[in-house]
Amino acid sequence: MTFPNPLGLAAGFDKDAEIPDAMLGLGFGFVEIGSVTPLPQPGNPKPRLFRLTQDHAVINRMGFNNQGGAAVHAHLTRRRRNGIVGVNLGKNKTSEDAVTDYVRGIERFAGIADYLVVNVSSPNTPGLRALQGRRELTELLLAVLGARNARPGAEARPPVLLKVAPDLTDEDKTDIAAVAAETGVDGLICTNTTISRPQGLQSPSRSETGGLSGRPLAELSTSVLADMYRLTRGQIPIIGVGGIHDAATAYAKIRAGASLLQLYSALVYQGPALVGRLLDGLEECLERDGFSRLSEAVGADHRDNG
Ligand code: FNR
Repeated sequence: MTFPNPLGLAAGFDKDAEIPDAMLGLGFGFVEIGSVTPLPQPGNPKPRLFRLTQDHAVINRMGFNNQGGAAVHAHLTRRRRNGIVGVNLGKNKTSEDAVTDYVRGIERFAGIADYLVVNVSSPNTPGLRALQGRRELTELLLAVLGARNARPGAEARPPVLLKVAPDLTDEDKTDIAAVAAETGVDGLICTNTTISRPQGLQSPSRSETGGLSGRPLAELSTSVLADMYRLTRGQIPIIGVGGIHDAATAYAKIRAGASLLQLYSALVYQGPALVGRLLDGLEECLERDGFSRLSEAVGADHRDNG
């Protein structure tokens, strides 16, 4: 796929696909809507979203509040479909059959999404992250990719990406890389929010339950991205997300192995002017290092280190 620029809006901002075109209009190269679940659900009780202002971070335990697949699909059918919009899929909290929920998402959205995301990394749905285990993940991805491949017509068979957590053991990462290669998933998104609490958080809300995003996530998230790039030998495209707030943090993810980028939390603190500023800065970084195109810089850190 060809993207107008490499910076996308991460999932969770426009969960119900209410304003994808407005967000593209801010200058994002692509927008990911969702997570969307088959049935509507209210999410967790409020308060469920906390600013960690001193840390330029956010903690959320939204719990996949969304209007459900039918309503979200209806919103997307109203678009003229210029601009790349991916659909991020989740499972309902009370569903006991995760695989079926994701397959329903694929079937519902394959005809209208530019790409699809299997999100098994939100910390706010009980049991969800266990789907990242080797056996569970193999079963899930085979079912999801099978459903995608069964669609008639190449246009209705969009790429399927897997979004992973930053809180993975070395064994988890090795397994995920192996399963990605075995199943033929089209890409990875590294990473979702973290349940860890890095040293040095200043804000009073730092102990709230939920996933932490924003600046304190950058280093952890980029190191997981670098690990996944290495373990997949650069063979699988990766979207880098987590703590991007300036050109330097964006560029670090490119050099670690990201072909595309996303952000969310930095918008809270810097507003929409961030998008253009960051893209300009990224171009300067590439020029400074003598790259004539972004693709040349993807994974550069791994080559420098032999
Ligand atoms: C998110 N994120 C998220 N991810 C996902 O796959 N599905 C979702 O529904 C949500 N919902 C969500 C809500 C809120 C309030 C936040 C802050 C984040 C995670 C998001 O897409 C991204 O992976 C992380 O926030 C890390 O990027 P930033 O925010 O540090 O740039």
